Amino acid sequence: MTTPIEIQFKDVDLDAVATADGLVAVFVDGDGKLDAGARKVNTLTRKSLARFVESEAFEKASPGDVSLLSYPVGMAATGVLVVKLGRRPSSQEARKAGAQIAKRLGDKSLLVLAGSIGRADEIALGLMLRAYDFDTHKTGDKPGRGEVTCMVSKPDELRKAPLNAIAEGVFFTRDLTNEPANILTTTDFADRLAAMRDLGLEVEVLEEKDLAKLGMRTLLSVGQGSVSPSKVVVMSWNGGKKKDAPFALVGKGVVFDTGGISIKPAAGMEDMTMDMGGAGVVAGVMRTLALRKAKANVVGLVGIVENMPSGSATRPGDVVTSMKGDTVEIINTDAEGRLVLADVLWYAQDRFKPAGMINLATLTGAILVALGNENAGVFSNSDELSGDFIKAAKAEGEGAWRMPMAKAYDALLKSRIADMKNVGGRNAGSITAAQFLQRFVKDDVPWCHLDIAGVASVKSETALAPAGATGWGVMALNRLVADMYEG
Ligand code: BES
Ligand code: MN
Ligand code: ZN
Repeated sequence: MTTPIEIQFKDVDLDAVATADGLVAVFVDGDGKLDAGARKVNTLTRKSLARFVESEAFEKASPGDVSLLSYPVGMAATGVLVVKLGRRPSSQEARKAGAQIAKRLGDKSLLVLAGSIGRADEIALGLMLRAYDFDTHKTGDKPGRGEVTCMVSKPDELRKAPLNAIAEGVFFTRDLTNEPANILTTTDFADRLAAMRDLGLEVEVLEEKDLAKLGMRTLLSVGQGSVSPSKVVVMSWNGGKKKDAPFALVGKGVVFDTGGISIKPAAGMEDMTMDMGGAGVVAGVMRTLALRKAKANVVGLVGIVENMPSGSATRPGDVVTSMKGDTVEIINTDAEGRLVLADVLWYAQDRFKPAGMINLATLTGAILVALGNENAGVFSNSDELSGDFIKAAKAEGEGAWRMPMAKAYDALLKSRIADMKNVGGRNAGSITAAQFLQRFVKDDVPWCHLDIAGVASVKSETALAPAGATGWGVMALNRLVADMYEG
């Protein structure tokens, strides 16, 4: 997988500034007050830093913006990065600052003079998260990465922060979501999850024959047109008390969604390599929890299938029976994610009796119409759980917006010949999808459905990620687990 950059945290040693090569980053607050590191750079450069700080360009910059002073006199460095940031930045500002530094990172070393600035941990995290490049399939010379050193007043504290655990979880999700479907086949996906046994996770891979025995016919109906076998992978992290019921995370893992017999138009179909994004987030969260040895019991279950048209594919009009026992008339084979989740949600509750459950899925194009790329749709049977999640997402700068659910929407799923059909018509497409899922959630289980079709992968860069997979949700869910179980 793509590994996060390693940041060396060291005590502040201003004598090293003059001879540091590569880039040196300093922080200056909006009032233009220079801290010790900045003052050192200012002295060495015969006050060119102060001249810049007095400029209109600096005045107009926003918190977290970075400017480059090239080839400063009096220093061995090729450039000084001047970061505009208050002494007590918000964590979002600090992450942005780190990300803006990361964008200028080259193959030369970088020295960050953070000193005693607040949220140095968030600056470092932003730097790590933005220094991501999915280049596994590019041949030729790849740019090397220089060493990154961060001088802070309390390096020990930063060494203890779970920065790498978070960045690795996010990168794992991004890699999985960026990977093309001929590489990330259902089998390859399961193998990558099984490899997390090395981190102390319990990982179980259920094969088609196991799924058939369990009666997961709606899930199997999605994968039956593909030569890649359908799977369900169960990941368990048991860091909590033995008697505590686990929290369950469930993910849609459609490695490619052609739409099946209800085939999608050609334009943009290549984007459907990201249709396993929900499962990718579940995997990333489990990785982070294991890496930081979370004191909580969490199970992650993902349904991994490929939705292909073929002679063995499900037809529109087919009726299948779910593990729960309810029958579904499949009107549109492109509404496949809910068929996968129906069985995995049921299995998760049946087997683990979870204290709560959150599922993630790139479920509907309609959520893009509603919320664009800025917010995931949150559907829930619990004000408390959805409220807690939205709070955690906000703290992590990950957009999440509650959407309504109601009986009247559920009625749109009525089928003439089966217990329900798998689509509810054009209107309220994201809500009827959520209503479908809720039919497979027990009333007493607090549950959220996160429709991440708009946020899992995007066309232009975001605050902390280049274009492509974002890893949205890993940090929010990691925080939710920390706040709910470990706080
Ligand atoms: N995987 C798609 C949803 C999607 C769309 C994800 C755009 C990411 C970006 C899902 O399986 C799908 O095809 N949904 C249909 C449902 C419809 C047939 C009721 C859709 O949204 O059009
Ligand atoms: Mn589909
Ligand atoms: Zn899909």
